[in-house]
Amino acid sequence: MSAHPKRYLVTSALPYANGLKHIGHLAGAYVPADIYVRYLRAQKRDVVFVCGSDEHGTAIPIQAMKEGTTAQAIIDKYHQAMKEDFQDLHISFDVYHRTSDPLHHETSQEFFTYLHQRGQLETKETEQYYDESSRTFLADRYIKGTCPHCKSDRAFGDQCESCGTALSPDELINPVSTISGAAPFKKKTTHWYLPLAQHESFLREWILNEHRQDWRATVVGQCKSWIEGGLQSRAVTRDLDWGVKVPLQEADGKVLYVWFDAPIGYISATRQWAQDTGKDWKPYWYDNDTQLVHFIGKDNIVFHCIIFPVMLKLHGNILPVNVPANEFLNLEGDKMSTSRNWKLDMRDYITDFVKKENGGDQCVDMLRYYLTQIAPETKDSEFTWKGFQDAVNNELVSIFGNYVNRTFVLMHKLCQGKVPTFHEDKSDALDAALVNDIQLAKERITACLEQYRFREGLFEVIDLARKGNKYMQEKEPWIVAKKVAAQPDQQGLIDNCLHHCLQLTANLAILAQPFLPGTSKKMCHMMKVVDRILDWEHAGSMKLLSVGYSLREPQLLFRKIEDAEITAQITKLKHAFMNDASSLPVSNEPGHLPLKPEIGIDDFSKIDLRTGIVLAAQKVPKADKLLQLEVDLGFEKRTILSGIALHFQPEEVVGKQVVVVTNLAPRKMRGIDSQGMILMAEDASGKLHFVQPSSMINGGSTVS
Ligand code: MF3
Ligand code: ZN
Repeated sequence: MSAHPKRYLVTSALPYANGLKHIGHLAGAYVPADIYVRYLRAQKRDVVFVCGSDEHGTAIPIQAMKEGTTAQAIIDKYHQAMKEDFQDLHISFDVYHRTSDPLHHETSQEFFTYLHQRGQLETKETEQYYDESSRTFLADRYIKGTCPHCKSDRAFGDQCESCGTALSPDELINPVSTISGAAPFKKKTTHWYLPLAQHESFLREWILNEHRQDWRATVVGQCKSWIEGGLQSRAVTRDLDWGVKVPLQEADGKVLYVWFDAPIGYISATRQWAQDTGKDWKPYWYDNDTQLVHFIGKDNIVFHCIIFPVMLKLHGNILPVNVPANEFLNLEGDKMSTSRNWKLDMRDYITDFVKKENGGDQCVDMLRYYLTQIAPETKDSEFTWKGFQDAVNNELVSIFGNYVNRTFVLMHKLCQGKVPTFHEDKSDALDAALVNDIQLAKERITACLEQYRFREGLFEVIDLARKGNKYMQEKEPWIVAKKVAAQPDQQGLIDNCLHHCLQLTANLAILAQPFLPGTSKKMCHMMKVVDRILDWEHAGSMKLLSVGYSLREPQLLFRKIEDAEITAQITKLKHAFMNDASSLPVSNEPGHLPLKPEIGIDDFSKIDLRTGIVLAAQKVPKADKLLQLEVDLGFEKRTILSGIALHFQPEEVVGKQVVVVTNLAPRKMRGIDSQGMILMAEDASGKLHFVQPSSMINGGSTVS
């Protein structure tokens, strides 16, 4: 193995302090980083693991409006909550900082000044939307209008909430200010820009050449399309009153763009850690022998692979050696989303499992296990409660837990609770194979962890436990034990088996530790050894537990997940989703959307509206938003595609009475002919409701 770097700095994306984080975040940027860091620590490498709350940007004041409080109150509340949740799930940051801290304001202002003084930023005067009544420029998020792509009214200046397309305010049709509800007008403003195009050759060389092989293909791919799409100058300042003030006199009323200051938060956090521990932070950001690794979700790739590296280069810092970004984690067949309330918050898992009487560390490790097993390392993946139950019951309980438990029970029963001797003269090929398997597993797991392949690394851990079970099954010490009375020398075979099984148990504790830290700790307790045994260098040894050493009684490592528990979770998920009225700022809605132009009665009477009943519903493959419905109009049945899949599960709409536009020209979508349209009403929160007669009436009844 090649020599390792002198030190590591590992970062996890700074979560926005605008709400609780869900398990998609956890699986993307926190669990994998924590596994990596725990592994490095077990290797006794010099590593600092930093994170903190991202407390700027418009997300914060917007959340404050929703909750009817101040931005400061919002960040204080969610900073504390997120910090606790990470602790409860054993994410072992060396420092959890926050970007509202004066140290961060100072660090990011210094950074800006450094670039500005060296002429690395350009200024540009542009026209931006301005809201007269509140006398503020409108951040992208404060402008609402109609999406140019899907024509939904739920489009904002940065993104359409309906179709997800990234937008700029200029693209919105009929823009209105979400603060006043009035149509905003354009006003001149000056901003500072990072001219990315000037750094194109550097980015090409560094990413597309140097890291083409060792970075994840999904990451290189995204970077490539950014670079080839033409690098635009990015504004690094904003007209806003929430954030880090731009440290220039002429920039009164302006703050650093949140995506400029947030990644600098990694540096501020490192400085905070150094202050707290009396260490020097500088080598972690300036010395080339430092390995900087950013763990993020795929929506953060451009910031960590293109923009921040350019900033770091200009500022004289080191660059990341890797950015192992994860794809997205879906939940029970649908995209995880906070605004639609389709999610599992870390906090909810903590409350429903970890903090329950039969919870604790084992439940932390169960979640870490499943999230790693399904980690979206190369493509989107999916969390299902059934999958969670299967992973726990069929792997953690039946393979890993069962192996350790059997070993301890048999050792107490057949070897007086002590580590038995290994009799070389009685050793056989199975024993040798097991030793070899342990060696191989160590090598493979090490390689996986060094290369950020956590899913595969975890698989190897379980596979080793599986081999342990097989070994024991083949050796059958419980059968041999029946012969010992007649043939005392048979005890040697039992000793050998359990000696090896125990050494394997100790090895498993070491190799599982980065993934399942609580479990390894429990195993150390059972083996009566101190945590030092978990140093990575000890893995592979068959002398971890001394002969004659007496061990404790076994404790169960994992409990089973009952059917009732997962049913309860699925019900809870659907219930929260259906009853969600809080997803958008109802009280702050900017009045109504402008009315469409007037039409005459003859225009209206051209539309043929009929009642119908939904007979069947199914998802349309590869179309997130579409449900294919079979609708009975009384006189005939129709196939209708409806863009409601993000709002309703197929089983929820079967049997519903609906109103159908029956004379709309058929339209082909995803190869299916849609023969009509279902009328839906959208409430202020963006939730959809069926438009229905007040009681059940015959299909095909006219509506006018
Ligand atoms: N807050 C951002 C998000 O949740 C991530 C910021 S990462 C940092 O998407 F690098 F900017 F800190
Ligand atoms: Zn759209």
